[in-house]
Amino acid sequence: MSASAQDSSHLAGSGREAIGLGHVAGQGLDTRHGTILSLEDIHVSFDGFKALSDLTLYIGVGELRCIIGPNGAGKTTLMDVITGKTRPTSGSAFFGETLDLARLSEPQIAQAGIGRKFQKPTVFEALSVFENLELAQQADRSVWASLRARLSGEQRDGIDEVLHSIRLHDQRQRQAGLLSHGQKQFLEIGMLLVQQPRLLLLDEPVAGMTDAETEFTAELFKSLARKHSLMVVEHDMGFVGSIADHVTVLHQGSVLAEGSLAQVQNDERVIEVYLGR
Ligand SMILES: Nc1ncnc2c1ncn2[C@@H]1O[C@H](COP(=O)(O)OP(=O)(O)O)[C@@H](O)[C@H]1O
Ligand SMILES: [Mg+2]
Repeated sequence: MSASAQDSSHLAGSGREAIGLGHVAGQGLDTRHGTILSLEDIHVSFDGFKALSDLTLYIGVGELRCIIGPNGAGKTTLMDVITGKTRPTSGSAFFGETLDLARLSEPQIAQAGIGRKFQKPTVFEALSVFENLELAQQADRSVWASLRARLSGEQRDGIDEVLHSIRLHDQRQRQAGLLSHGQKQFLEIGMLLVQQPRLLLLDEPVAGMTDAETEFTAELFKSLARKHSLMVVEHDMGFVGSIADHVTVLHQGSVLAEGSLAQVQNDERVIEVYLGR
């Protein structure tokens, strides 16, 4: 078993109130204004060091947003804030129009429909590909929905669909520990997808992948956008250019620039701090 403690929160049962909330939130997330995530004036300090400072960022429903910026810019901290792992010292974070992330625990945020993939794959190596997906699905934000689904066979169909989209359909019985690094990454994305998240957070997803795997990841993410909203942190500019609608550049904990990749690549300040001359 290589699942980290960090990631096990969404696999463990996490209390009745969380399940109830997830059920309601999952069905009724209010995105009337077309915004899935609103972060306003977020500040995060670690012993006086400002990891995030006056950060304001909006993600649209179905958008595929890339976040770039130098090491230490606050990209991972940003994801920690969204998932409730780190609490901002000030500012507001809303999922949809009405769900105040500051009032939800980490498991409640996951159950409300925010899925996160960490840099290191954390699949259960001793289990098969299928079993990994089954286990992740059982941690669905709505237990009642998954019970109903099991009776109708929808659950199995859901796993099947995910197996195809992550291209592991012919590996379903294979022990996860025997997969390549890239395949483990795809399996972990699959483990998020079976939970039908509205917003997916992916931190450096193509690090350590082969060119072919990177290309497939780009295709996969493009196919997931619209149905899901995605926030992708990545340094690989070729990859960013092939997927992003919109790019946000973080620098010293704040948004330095935002726009198409071409726009931010031509921004003098971005060139100065990140892209180099
Ligand atoms: N738990 C923590 N305690 C103290 N400092 C932290 C902590 N997490 C992150 N930092 C600091 O905050 C800054 C932003 O880190 P991070 O969000 O990991 O940046 P990035 O992902 O953009 O490389 C860094 O200077 C980092 O050292
Ligand atoms: Mg990081």
